[in-house]
Amino acid sequence: MPREDGRWRNPLRDRRDKRLPRIAGPSSLIIFGVTGDLARKKLMPAVYDLANRGLLPPSFALVGFGRRDWTDEDFANVVHDAVRDHSRTGFREDVWERLAEGFRFVQGSFDDDASFDRLRDSLAALDAERGTDGNHAFYLSIPPNAFPTVCEQLRRSGLATADGDSWRRVVIEKPFGHDLASARKLNAVVNSVFPESSVFRIDHYLGKETVQNILALRFANQLFDPLWSSHYVDHVQITMAEDIGLGGRAGYYDGIGAARDVIQNHLLQLMALVAMEEPISFEPKQLQAEKIKVLAATRNILPIEANAARGQYGPGWQGSERVAGLKEEAGFSADSTTETFAAIALEVDSRRWAGVPFYLRTGKRLGRRVTEIALVFKRAPHLPFDKTMTEELSQNALVIRVQPDEGITLRFGSKVPASSMEVRDVNMDFSYGSAFTEASPEAYERLILDVLLGEPSLFPVNEEVELSWEILDPVLNSWAANGTPDTYESGTWGPKSADEMMARTGRSWRRP
Ligand code: BG6
Repeated sequence: MPREDGRWRNPLRDRRDKRLPRIAGPSSLIIFGVTGDLARKKLMPAVYDLANRGLLPPSFALVGFGRRDWTDEDFANVVHDAVRDHSRTGFREDVWERLAEGFRFVQGSFDDDASFDRLRDSLAALDAERGTDGNHAFYLSIPPNAFPTVCEQLRRSGLATADGDSWRRVVIEKPFGHDLASARKLNAVVNSVFPESSVFRIDHYLGKETVQNILALRFANQLFDPLWSSHYVDHVQITMAEDIGLGGRAGYYDGIGAARDVIQNHLLQLMALVAMEEPISFEPKQLQAEKIKVLAATRNILPIEANAARGQYGPGWQGSERVAGLKEEAGFSADSTTETFAAIALEVDSRRWAGVPFYLRTGKRLGRRVTEIALVFKRAPHLPFDKTMTEELSQNALVIRVQPDEGITLRFGSKVPASSMEVRDVNMDFSYGSAFTEASPEAYERLILDVLLGEPSLFPVNEEVELSWEILDPVLNSWAANGTPDTYESGTWGPKSADEMMARTGRSWRRP
């Protein structure tokens, strides 16, 4: 593009270089639910890590809202302990001191008008003293049944709307409802106070580096794309296995179960990223549009009874430790029917994926902690080897190792040295630890920064949440109508019914 002085100007130069660090503008983060686990283990440490990386503005403020009779100093002590115990980056006194100047605590309860009036006054004072400029993000780390009251209070006190160029945003944590009907109600309540563009729904899996890398793997490379369809893929397995039990979490988990806890959100989001078409750009709207298409085209494989499995952990061994079953954990009753393992089989009704099952499974107290996505390829149509030579050759697989030991594995067959032509599975590995020197930020660092920057790409929209419930509801209804979960021994890979579900089509679960 020629300039008036006749010299060439590169239009790309005028755009901001996307490699530069993104630093939040003047703003505050207000946390509701400061005494909860999430606030202590994830949110407070992430705020500190962002400050330590120089990504928060000098005027940043962190405000706690809660019933405790705390002073600002008490609140600072709580944040200090949380940061000491859980932050990713090392503790630096100078960073801490600068950050702590912006800490405030507002004592109050959700149903009390005066508490929210005090919050409004505190935020106005912060705007004046520290220059937070009227930019405030409200983080609801509270049970969903409190959302309507808090949203209504934010509206009543005038905190939900901003003047001029300032902004107000609300951040909500799952569960986004219990089923489709309740999710719709919840969305209606939130949207009656905040426009959809100001609502940031957290699915922390989208904040993980390895999950964002699915888009790089698929759309920056030519190598994998031709294979990425029913022509070559036999099926896809998405596994989120945890070795921990549910001691201490009965209040949240009992009556919710594994499917609502993580399939409705994390696992369906992973599936959408694996199955979606290339977006026109990485603009939030384009990305969401592609994920929405996948979710709208996703169906349960029928009959559901034979294509889903659920279980509840009984006593067993986790390594060398003897562990209790769910029914013996504090807060769970002896007749609890909450599932701690869930597996479902889905299909995506599209030209690319017709006939390819997507198997999603998750569980607590399984053999080990691992989250991975495996594309398992069809067998070669013909093997010109003696049968005995390929007994240890299974199907080729591309495995995205989400965590731990983050990376990607390609499994294929190779000749065993010194044999005449015996072929056995081998792995080719990419591992973050050896390929990069930079450590990956925690998911919450990325997501909190994106909220403050008003960057919505990594936050599922209303429609995604509702479509996910549409997929899960038939499974939940079938379970509610039919019996109780099977029991599996802690430390194993789930109930027998999950293996049987795969065996019916001649497949089996991976043992990561
Ligand atoms: C949460 C679930 O969303 O994810 C928990 O509610 C689960 O039950 C947790 O333990 C796992 O997160 P991560 O990042 O450790 O895999």
